[in-house]
Amino acid sequence: MDHELASCQNVLVDRATRDEDARRRYPESEDDDSWLMGPSNVVSPYLIDVSKIMNCRALRRGGDKTQVRPLEPNTHIRRRLSHSLGVAGLAVPIAKLLGLHPDLTHAAGLGHDMGHTPFGHTGEVTLSRLSEKKICHEILGVVIAQKVERRGRGLNLTHQTLLCLRDHSRGDGQFGTETCESEESALVMHTDKIDYFWADYHDIFERGDCLNPLDYPELVGLAQWFGKGYRSRTAKCLRALCLESKAAGRISFGLCEEAMRLTRVKEIMYGKIYNVVNRRAEVISLIERVYRALEKIAPHLDPVFFIALLGDQELLGLAKKDNLSPADLAGLSATEILANLKETKLDLTSPDLGW
Ligand SMILES: [Fe+2]
Ligand SMILES: [Fe+2]
Repeated sequence: MDHELASCQNVLVDRATRDEDARRRYPESEDDDSWLMGPSNVVSPYLIDVSKIMNCRALRRGGDKTQVRPLEPNTHIRRRLSHSLGVAGLAVPIAKLLGLHPDLTHAAGLGHDMGHTPFGHTGEVTLSRLSEKKICHEILGVVIAQKVERRGRGLNLTHQTLLCLRDHSRGDGQFGTETCESEESALVMHTDKIDYFWADYHDIFERGDCLNPLDYPELVGLAQWFGKGYRSRTAKCLRALCLESKAAGRISFGLCEEAMRLTRVKEIMYGKIYNVVNRRAEVISLIERVYRALEKIAPHLDPVFFIALLGDQELLGLAKKDNLSPADLAGLSATEILANLKETKLDLTSPDLGW
């Protein structure tokens, strides 16, 4: 580690979330993981959250949900799960360096995208349009964590972790951290973007089977300025984030040259790239087919909720069938989950965190 980066050690330790701050909705006596809990926090409450998230169905479903390139058979192209692991992998060492809570950062990094529908943001937007409800994966993730996992009892995550999940998303908007309620939340918000821009860039331009980099010289020039490959580009961003955060006395990544150049990367990715690689028309048509079929054959279900709980391949399989019948839903991840829920029409737009 270079001298300048080493000087960032523990600079935010006074602003770290503490184990003593952790609170859960339900008492220890009602928690499946109570065997790990105790008055002295021998195991950090946020490490217990990491364990809960690592073993939950929502995280597993992320193994078959689009990150950036839908309907691609190559398993090296990132899915939501690999992106979430990537965010945690980048954010935890930075939390350690700066003196923030590494376990809260880990839980937030792993769990932040648990609420994604199949086919990424196209799925989210399409389901919002069809249902006339604003479906946001950051809210849906909190609903799933609290009311869907573990047969509807929820994971009983700490309020602190749930807030990180709720507050991580910015879409194509500004990357401000004003709404983040902890430094760990702010770190994960920035690390999410740092990971996905450079991971998406790699999957789109550096596999040789998607877009031609020669057609996007400004973006390629920016990527080259940051370094050669995902590792060096993310490292340059995170190093700058550490130095800017040290100067600001809180997580900050908006004033340095790296942040400004990354903002330009964001503008180009959202303005010219994502809409080319997301196979929008094809994905919309698949979702619409399944949504309309579900309205007919399973009127007791909320089609948005059902579809949100499917993986890409499950949805694709349903969309390919002519004359879908209730028997075709047997054995799917969504069917398995809904069979165990008392309430199958949840409010998917409310995180219900006022406790
Ligand atoms: Fe997200
Ligand atoms: Fe993400």
